[in-house]
Amino acid sequence: LESGCLSIVVLGASGDLAKKKTFPALFNLFRQGFLQANEVHIFGYARTKISDDELRDRIRGYLSQGKGASVEHSDELSKFLQLIKYVSGSYDSGDGFTLLNKEISEHELSKNSQSGTSRRLFYLALPPSVYPSVCKMIRNYCMNQSDLTGWTRIVVEKPFGKDLSSAEELSTQLGELFDEQQIYRIDHYLGKELVQNLLVLRFANRLFLPLWNRDNIDNVQIVFREDFGTEGRGGYFDEYGIIRDIIQNHLMQVLCLVAMEKPVSLKPEHIRDEKVKVLQSVLPISLEEVVLGQYEGYKDDPTVSNNSNTPTFATVVLHIHNERWEGVPFILKAGKALNSRKAEIRVQFKDVPGDIFKCKKQGRNEFVIRLQPSEAMYMKLTVKKPGLEMSTIQSELDLSYAQRYQGVTIPEAYERLILDTIRGDQQHFVRRDELKAAWEIFTPLLHKIDNGELKPLPYKPGSRGPGQADELLERAGYVQTHGYIWIPPTL
Ligand code: BG6
Repeated sequence: LESGCLSIVVLGASGDLAKKKTFPALFNLFRQGFLQANEVHIFGYARTKISDDELRDRIRGYLSQGKGASVEHSDELSKFLQLIKYVSGSYDSGDGFTLLNKEISEHELSKNSQSGTSRRLFYLALPPSVYPSVCKMIRNYCMNQSDLTGWTRIVVEKPFGKDLSSAEELSTQLGELFDEQQIYRIDHYLGKELVQNLLVLRFANRLFLPLWNRDNIDNVQIVFREDFGTEGRGGYFDEYGIIRDIIQNHLMQVLCLVAMEKPVSLKPEHIRDEKVKVLQSVLPISLEEVVLGQYEGYKDDPTVSNNSNTPTFATVVLHIHNERWEGVPFILKAGKALNSRKAEIRVQFKDVPGDIFKCKKQGRNEFVIRLQPSEAMYMKLTVKKPGLEMSTIQSELDLSYAQRYQGVTIPEAYERLILDTIRGDQQHFVRRDELKAAWEIFTPLLHKIDNGELKPLPYKPGSRGPGQADELLERAGYVQTHGYIWIPPTL
């Protein structure tokens, strides 16, 4: 890690994202020694006029509840809180940002007696509607000091627009102010342990190399399920819906890592080049391969419009038109208010040709990467049922992280990604052309939903979603295994 003065500015400091994700992640990095008190200063910026202490009080509760927190951390907690200063100002006037720059510069002067470095990280925990004006203010008033070494970086988070044209407009506006190397577009799924593991799994294991293609794989499912609705976020969600909230970004990023070719090297640009190629190879979505749902009761939320057509559930089948994947459906499924909470990748293999065991009915080989909860990878296979008879049964080879890596704390996605922004590593961030290609895939479908041409089917909260989604899955070739269920090991 470089050393020298580092200023982290959290814009939208009193908002939900900052309190729940950004500050806790910064605290965890501090606790682990990645942020040194002698060089780091954290600035909160927002419109509300409050004091430093008021901001500290507002976020304190979220920090002490954090993972691994205990009373022993209270000393660390107060040291961390002392690093935070608050500056109030609007998002579109020079005054606030002039003041912010003054505060940052004073801090740099006081810390820079030896190193002379000016590293400025601006984390926009804000709605995207203000990104252009905030970025302009940063550009005009708060850039790192040119006579010092260092950098200025911007961290932004989805939603990046609502469709292809609005996303491109936003990208152009930001692109006029900052170079691509300065912009870090967070997709927090790229910070998850098992998402990061995909690259290693696929390209460091001889076992998978010959199997990972259309000759062996029948279909791939990428699934996100939540067992709660849009509680408290109805207003935001109703404007976006499940495809923009989860599928176009989180699940597509996962799809890229599952489907891409081996990158030339581990350099961020090489990896992102391969991801873009996958996105560009996705064929237009056919409406027969889409099932949308909306859970009953969704519209009872006062922040949701009474005639909302917004899907809270969607299954979409994608086809990748290239040599490796032609004919293999990639089934993306995401839903709120379902019967369980999990995210997983399920790779289903083809039937064994010339099967002498007649075990077809028992189910196919599947390789499952469980992203959360209970991180695991397991391979479903057919084995001889232990005993005197020569009969077969479904079983698994199971690498469950809680069991295999006891005592290892898996870092939070945000923690890892913020550290990457400080280190200047863009591998796990979305490049502008990736974003564009992902919007190209979903925009026609989204416009049909927005126009009311496609309507979500109602489903019961706490169910599997609309039954038609399971039928679509079957039509796509997925064969459900009956009478077998993987149980995460208990310690
Ligand atoms: C966010 C979505 O990006 O991801 C939320 O806006 C969703 O709707 C969340 O709940 C899920 O993240 P995780 O890490 O809990 O799977």
